[in-house]
Amino acid sequence: MAFCRIATSWKHSMCTSASEAILRVQTICSHRIPYACSYRRRNIHQSSAQECHPTYEQVFASAIDSPQDFWAKAAEDLVWHKKWDNVLDNSREPFTKWFVGGEMNTCYNALDRHVENGDGNHVAIIHDSPVTNTLKKYTYAELLNEVSKFASVLQSHGVKKGDCVLIYLPMIPQALVSMLATIRIGAIHSLVFGGFAANELGVRIKHAEPKVVISANCGVEPNRIVDYKPMLDNALANIDFKPDKCIIYNRPGLPPSPLVPGRDVCYDEEMAGASPIDCVPVPATDPSYILYTSGTTGLPKAVVRPSAGHAVVLKWSMWNIYGLKPKEVWWAASDLGWIVGHSYIAYAPLLNCNTTVLFEGKPVGTPDPGTFFRVLKEHDVSAMFVAPTALRAIRREDPKVEYGRKYFPLSKFQNMFVAGEHCDRETMDWTKTAFGVPVLDNWWQTETGWAITATNVGLGNRTNPPQGVTGKPVPGWNVKVLRPDNSETDPMELGQIVVKLPLPPGSFSTLWKNDVKFEETYFKRIQGYYNTMDSGYRCEEGYISVLTRTDDVINVAGHRLSTGALEEAILESDDVVEAAVVGVPDTLKGQIPLGLCVVKHGVKKSEAEVIQNVVDKVRQFIGPVASFKQAVIVPKLPKTRAGKIARNTLAAIAAGKPYKIPVTIEDDTVYPAIHKALTEAGFPLKR
Ligand code: COA
Repeated sequence: MAFCRIATSWKHSMCTSASEAILRVQTICSHRIPYACSYRRRNIHQSSAQECHPTYEQVFASAIDSPQDFWAKAAEDLVWHKKWDNVLDNSREPFTKWFVGGEMNTCYNALDRHVENGDGNHVAIIHDSPVTNTLKKYTYAELLNEVSKFASVLQSHGVKKGDCVLIYLPMIPQALVSMLATIRIGAIHSLVFGGFAANELGVRIKHAEPKVVISANCGVEPNRIVDYKPMLDNALANIDFKPDKCIIYNRPGLPPSPLVPGRDVCYDEEMAGASPIDCVPVPATDPSYILYTSGTTGLPKAVVRPSAGHAVVLKWSMWNIYGLKPKEVWWAASDLGWIVGHSYIAYAPLLNCNTTVLFEGKPVGTPDPGTFFRVLKEHDVSAMFVAPTALRAIRREDPKVEYGRKYFPLSKFQNMFVAGEHCDRETMDWTKTAFGVPVLDNWWQTETGWAITATNVGLGNRTNPPQGVTGKPVPGWNVKVLRPDNSETDPMELGQIVVKLPLPPGSFSTLWKNDVKFEETYFKRIQGYYNTMDSGYRCEEGYISVLTRTDDVINVAGHRLSTGALEEAILESDDVVEAAVVGVPDTLKGQIPLGLCVVKHGVKKSEAEVIQNVVDKVRQFIGPVASFKQAVIVPKLPKTRAGKIARNTLAAIAAGKPYKIPVTIEDDTVYPAIHKALTEAGFPLKR
């Protein structure tokens, strides 16, 4: 197949600013440019950019003023099958399209490109699994071989361009292989995190309608084996939709799962007879994956990620935001089933020819709180991504870093990036001292796919930003903070955080099968802007602080959960007639969910039995990831005249914070009983 690199000509010495330099870029599409030659060209162009040293402000301004030129230049770092006709088509906002008419393949850019470039022996993945006591490395050449063989397995089961493949796997290399093999043949993947229960898995399978499901016999948690295959069987038994095939990977050394005749096939057996196949070029605007995220209801909501924009920005981000050069080792301590895992365990490091650490363990207990330090040391990690919950867990068990210290010095380690939830000041300060590097908060969302605000290390942002900020807007993200009347706030004034359209490449292009909801949820309330549903403020120096969500989504250990979905699970209990779920502050997980339940008339069970039943239902319908362990019984819930539960007031009471009863509350006499029930249950929790 003919993949081409787009040649760039620069006038190095005359380059005075980023925007000027960008305007000077001339692009031509020359098919079949010899790879080595085009690679040299890229190196020249990188060093010329460094000579120019454009400031963060200049780069930011050029991305906003001339988005077409800016992102066209970034796109030149990838190999294209066909150059785009139009960088930006914003004619049907908010359905913005980038690189229209272009064709490429993300898997080619993440693997084949590096192998063809002579980097086949460089390590692509380090699978470090303290829970199974194994360590395995794959070079780029080995990974390419696995992926291109598995792509042919998928093809042999009828998967083709545009089909969906659902991946329900633990943190094992086969998960990455499955993702890359899917996009290699132009199909779309949908990963489901292992902490979800069979019901939630079934809901997603039914909605995504995958041609093939890929799963494993089991996952390994420190305290138990997670039965993936029985969970999949259960999920499929309860829905009408049936995939054509399920490909099951039986993990070595763990009990294999029996296969369902006619439906299931064995991963290893399929691979044994497979031959590698080439990449299938896809239109730039075609999706590479869908990923479910929490909405305000229990209905499935999946973001759609356009192929080329995603690859372009992730490659760009590795140096410009995270300061990572190709070949360095990078570790995102998340799970592939979450957006951080998609973007920064899988795609960004591979697109940038880094080594990515795939860690199957926990920050504590596998076997001790020194594990993170061991991984950093043993694999010479240069930078990592982590959720504050993990840092709080390490701190709680090893406040004096006695386990971690054994691995000092961490000579290659330069920066730690945190995301997924708010990082409190104490955790931030402790982490800086414990790990001896800058700890830099990022803010982004499943919808955006990459950081909206960050410390842009490669662009020279200082690595000691003020306390409590999530960094500065990343080039491409035109962040504004608005008052309720849509005027811009003054510095330090709290407001709704929004992003002026068009959104940069890589952000979601729609919601799977639901263009209407995409428009209504994110773009209707404030015309011309993306509503992040987070509130916060901007300080004088341009840093953004993100404070709270303005919708009914809570954040538990860095996982966004819909209170609506939890409430629906509670209502599966025959004992409960009404329920509200709120997030309460938790010293480990940031927030944990608390249920307030109204019991049906005539239920004879004790309160403890009702609560246990409710807890079981949430585990059964949503899964252990919800960490739902607490509920209280209340006689009535506060509702507005429109019937909306005043969750904010409930959350405030449970957290011991002041609150104001909305004037629209139908019956404000419900509050004393709620206070009493929460106090008796021990709320607010002692910190
Ligand atoms: N498959 C199946 N079950 C899973 C799972 C997975 N991949 N991941 C978590 N679970 C289960 C756990 O076993 C636990 O079940 P339990 O109720 O039977 O104990 C439940 O989900 C809650 O898990 P978790 O949130 O991991 O809590 P924990 O108490 O087991 O561990 C921490 C506490 C701090 C170690 C853990 O929360 C952690 O590592 N947090 C960081 C998370 C993170 O990286 N988030 C970023 C996402 S971007």
